[in-house]
Amino acid sequence: MKILLLGKNGQVGWELQRALAPLGEVTALDVDTPAPWRADFSEPQTLAAIVRAAAPEVVVNAAAHTAVDKAESEPELARAINATAVGVLAREAAAIGATLVHYSTDYVFDGSGHAPRGEDAPTAPLSVYGRTKLEGEELIRASGCRHLILRTSWVYAARGGNFARTMLKLAAEREVLTVIDDQIGAPTGADLLADVTAHALRTIAARPALAGTYHCVAAGETSWFDYARFVVEWARARGHPIKVAPDAIRPIPTREYPTPARRPLNSRLDTAKLRAAFGLHLPPWQAGVERMLAEVLDH
Ligand SMILES: NC(=O)c1ccc[n+]([C@@H]2O[C@H](COP(=O)([O-])OP(=O)(O)OC[C@H]3O[C@@H](n4cnc5c(N)ncnc54)[C@H](OP(=O)(O)O)[C@@H]3O)[C@@H](O)[C@H]2O)c1
Repeated sequence: MKILLLGKNGQVGWELQRALAPLGEVTALDVDTPAPWRADFSEPQTLAAIVRAAAPEVVVNAAAHTAVDKAESEPELARAINATAVGVLAREAAAIGATLVHYSTDYVFDGSGHAPRGEDAPTAPLSVYGRTKLEGEELIRASGCRHLILRTSWVYAARGGNFARTMLKLAAEREVLTVIDDQIGAPTGADLLADVTAHALRTIAARPALAGTYHCVAAGETSWFDYARFVVEWARARGHPIKVAPDAIRPIPTREYPTPARRPLNSRLDTAKLRAAFGLHLPPWQAGVERMLAEVLDH
């Protein structure tokens, strides 16, 4: 399998470099790769020549404008990266008969209600990020290319900054921490997403009818508040320096923590379709977070 991986240095892109390696020859690019392989999604049309030159059987796109609040003040850039560039990849993939793998988000939904959403639930994004990610999805589906779109949520990785690391830093410095407790979702490891991608690609190669849009998150659910408590108490139990007392991590509602972008309260995604189609078991979110914490803290 000849694979073109774009956005190789993001959380998911980095893990994909590992997980895709056994599938075949991987050409991994990002915005810092020297010309003529520089894959800059803010210049969408330049991606067409890259796909044609690489002539892959699979294009995996892990690049995105993921700064959710910043996107509110730079909507054109977010749209170029999350939508227009993705449309170019989809068009080129369709032209050469390649499969396109892409990642999307729970932010395509408005987060009303309390039930987990299935893939066909009505979309209604609340933010520029959510709208541009949805537009990217729609351009892929309209292109006619064979595709795998994995919608996920609350992605973390051992590499780079993430919510858990931020909480640990604050917990070591502050006596009181306030964390939002009315947004509910599933923290999902970039490593899990990459491994599911590799497994699904192998399966789709044999059974192309399984291509499509799927929800892919770790099992279970939590709030940012309970996630923060889980991380801080895990670190405290292992003797890491924590200043905040257990009862000084306090819940606050979203309305008391205003941000430029509105976020869905209910980020629950139903993964039944993915598990059934690909014969997968998705581990509880705590398992992946503990592993990431061990990688980050225990060495
Ligand atoms: N992170 C989450 O919580 C989350 C939740 C749901 C869905 N997703 C989706 O999952 C996918 C992977 O996200 P992630 O967490 O791995 O995000 P990430 O760590 O922010 O990675 C995104 C990558 O895209 C790159 N990028 C930004 N602008 C670019 C440009 N103009 N041209 C080329 N590359 C550019 C970034 O480079 P720089 O770092 O140099 O900017 C980064 O390497 C994305 O599709 C995202 O929308 C993420």
